[in-house]
Amino acid sequence: MIEANQPPLLKWRRFPWKKQPIRTTNWKVSAMDGVTVIDHPLVQHKLTIMRRKETSTGSFRRLLREISTLLCYEVTRDLELTIETIETPIQEMQAPILEGKKLVFASILRAGNGLLEGMLDLVPSARVSHIGVYRDHETLQPVEYYFKAPEDVAERLIIVVDPMLATGNSSIAAIDKLKERGAHNIRFLCLLAAPEGLKNFRSAHPDVPVFTAAIDSHLNEKGYIVPGLGDAGDRMYGTK
Ligand code: URA
Repeated sequence: MIEANQPPLLKWRRFPWKKQPIRTTNWKVSAMDGVTVIDHPLVQHKLTIMRRKETSTGSFRRLLREISTLLCYEVTRDLELTIETIETPIQEMQAPILEGKKLVFASILRAGNGLLEGMLDLVPSARVSHIGVYRDHETLQPVEYYFKAPEDVAERLIIVVDPMLATGNSSIAAIDKLKERGAHNIRFLCLLAAPEGLKNFRSAHPDVPVFTAAIDSHLNEKGYIVPGLGDAGDRMYGTK
């Protein structure tokens, strides 16, 4: 991993649409403390196709499922393994297996469900939480309209997923709710992040590492990530 504050790489990561040298490694670059940019070439390639405005709903959905498998691979790469004695058809052996309780994937409705499917392809035994929450613009208080999670979230690693970290308000509110129920081992995974949202999120939940495929330029006046990919939910479900 390459640490934060390395200006040339940071510049490339944060403004990838400006012509910069193309990197062909799968290094992860921390552009900010606690933030990992997953810059695997396959992730970047698929993301570019998803960003194109002419990409159809069907292709967008398929790519999101594929990319979420790759993102899941990275966000889980440091999970603890334990050694178990098993028998292959040939002989007994000591083999590595995931340790501890199963994961929880927590999807922030509705766009989070697009990331969820590919992640479940990779970890079919994961538990799933659905969180419908938004932050009231007037009161700034989180308003929860749906919450379902396993009872024992306190004992599990929770990976909260939402493709777009824009203002960060709904992600912050969702994690507030999980923490109220005892969760303390939490990671946040998205596809695109705005610098404003990252700052907001990291100051609200400095203990929650963020994984993203890209950090874009800024939020526009309507709260869209620029250059972004538009409304992720609309693009994945063909709504408007
Ligand atoms: N949510 C989206 O779907 N897209 C954005 O650009 C910002 C928030």
